Amino acid sequence: MKLAVVGKGGVGKTTVAGTLARLIGRDGNSVLAVDADPNYNLWSAIGIQQSRASKIVPLLNDENLVHDRTRSKIVRVLGDYFALNPRVDDIADKFAVDGPDNVRLLVAGTVTMGDSGCMCPSAALLKSLIQHLALQENETLIMDMDAGIENMGRGTTKGMDALLIVVEPGKRSLETLGRIKKLAADIGTDRVFAVANRVDGESDRKIIEEYASEHGVKILAYIPVDRKLKLADLKGIAPLDMMETGPAIEELKGLKKKLDSVLNDDNLN
Ligand SMILES: Nc1ncnc2c1ncn2[C@@H]1O[C@H](COP(=O)(O)OP(=O)(O)OP(=O)(O)O)[C@@H](O)[C@H]1O
Ligand SMILES: [Mg+2]
Repeated sequence: MKLAVVGKGGVGKTTVAGTLARLIGRDGNSVLAVDADPNYNLWSAIGIQQSRASKIVPLLNDENLVHDRTRSKIVRVLGDYFALNPRVDDIADKFAVDGPDNVRLLVAGTVTMGDSGCMCPSAALLKSLIQHLALQENETLIMDMDAGIENMGRGTTKGMDALLIVVEPGKRSLETLGRIKKLAADIGTDRVFAVANRVDGESDRKIIEEYASEHGVKILAYIPVDRKLKLADLKGIAPLDMMETGPAIEELKGLKKKLDSVLNDDNLN
């Protein structure tokens, strides 16, 4: 199963992705967490030590890797260079860093648009990575995306089995949900769910509920405002290393269960 966590800037994508990865991993499944945000920090929400994280070189920033994997397959069409299907099946094994609870982390980094045209080799490598990355049996891929909707246009989220839109009670965040849902339909992804975050009371819940329902998006969890989450970030530790339980963590545990059931139901249909 491949999931991408998307949404407006600062809504809690990394918090959700990192914690969900560990909760899924605790069930005995392996989890490959992919950080696709150029400003990568998923390591901290998973609970990988800073000393290890500081040594990570994002895959797409590794020029040798990008060059090596794409060089023989570049063709020129109408003046632009297209890199086709670079080989990626060994990438996770070679480059992922081990984290707690059966989670491995792969930092993709950013797509650097060189002067080679509209479809640069690193974009091709990222797309290929997401679509053709060989997962082990019972392995889940969770991708923490960069903020906003640009990644939808680049097609990075195309190979995903489901999108999880994190949304907070605010017009800009809700509008982003609407746009992502529409773009998801354009690229053929119909399994789009929402996670409401920073929900402060019944009226917040209602606002998000109404908007999501108008856009045909099912909400799988309502995570309340929890100052311990913020505190965990301030201290640079993972939410699950800060607390094993609490209102937000319990909602995230519920999210994991709901995801299991909606995705399994779907497979039966
Ligand atoms: N429910 C919550 N209650 C309180 N604080 C929260 C909650 N969810 C997230 N936060 C805090 O909000 C901040 C932003 O969260 P996070 O980094 O997960 O967002 P993001 O969507 O990944 O941001 P970016 O768009 O920059 O990648 C962090 O300090 C995090 O601890
Ligand atoms: Mg983030």
